Amino acid sequence: MEYTTIESLEALRNAADAEFAAIASEQDAEGFRLKYLGKKGILRDLVKSLGSMSPEERKTFGAAANSLRQGVEERFAAAPWRGNASAEEDLGFDPTLPGYPFPAGSLHPLSKIRNQIVEIFAGMGFSVAYGPDAESDYYNFQALNMPPLHPARDMQDTFYIGQNAVLRTHTSPVQIRVMEAQKPPIRAIMPGRVYRNEEISARSYCMFHQVEGLYVDENVSFSDLKGTLLAFSRQFFDENTKIKIRPSFFPFTEPSVEVDVECFLCKGNGCSICKQSGWLEILGAGMVHPNVFRACGVDPEKYTGFAFGMGIERSALLKYGIDDIRLFYENDVRFLRQF
Ligand code: PHE
Repeated sequence: MEYTTIESLEALRNAADAEFAAIASEQDAEGFRLKYLGKKGILRDLVKSLGSMSPEERKTFGAAANSLRQGVEERFAAAPWRGNASAEEDLGFDPTLPGYPFPAGSLHPLSKIRNQIVEIFAGMGFSVAYGPDAESDYYNFQALNMPPLHPARDMQDTFYIGQNAVLRTHTSPVQIRVMEAQKPPIRAIMPGRVYRNEEISARSYCMFHQVEGLYVDENVSFSDLKGTLLAFSRQFFDENTKIKIRPSFFPFTEPSVEVDVECFLCKGNGCSICKQSGWLEILGAGMVHPNVFRACGVDPEKYTGFAFGMGIERSALLKYGIDDIRLFYENDVRFLRQF
């Protein structure tokens, strides 16, 4: 068919529109493209008709033919079977919108404090060791220089779960297990749960957490203990923290001490947290008793060492200014969310 008049273009547009609307497959689309828009397609061939026209006709026909071709090209290019579907139509949602806020969980404050303590000692070369919560009388007491009926057993109200089995009252039995398992030099940090049959109150609970430390080698001295605990306190509390060492008693260390840190809140001036004393007690420590070494097969003539034990709850109460230990175990999310 020859297209030379505006009317014939009108008929061509109608035919193309009808075929375009009937496209149902990719093959249909490709057929349409070749027929109308291809190199030899009808709409490109229209220029040939211009040769036989007067300049006047050429102008009007040329313009009409161009706009017809452009219109068909544009619609064809924008059609969905060309892969031009908008994201909303394709995906059923708008991927440019911001996402939903998912509430993230967080570590329990006691886990955070434990991790901090362990990391600080790991930085000083201590490795981590664990022992069981249920211990024999031997590990919890006897190997720690507390034979049966030793009065020092009274310092810790014990849950007996059998003739010779207890829920460990401190993490010190892990010292014994570590010394049995490896030869000096030993540098170990031992976090874990401990149990004491105490009245539950704002200040004490029947279960709490400790971190034990042990350093055994030739020529380990009391000044190593002091330096290690000072370095710890300065990283854990404040870089200018002072510590105070007071004499104390534990059957498994000699000499034994308790360590206070300068109150980080009032800087030693006295406040409610430190009960106006300017100092906070944070741990028990001492030089490993020769009897403990002997129980583990470590030669007390050759080796010396220090050990310490600190309460994680106590450290957390102090660090966060919390006044009731029971809050740690109730798991009220309004409390937990604050950490
Ligand atoms: N085990 C002691 C306690 O629970 C703390 C301690 C550990 C003291 C190691 C000295 C050496 O009270």
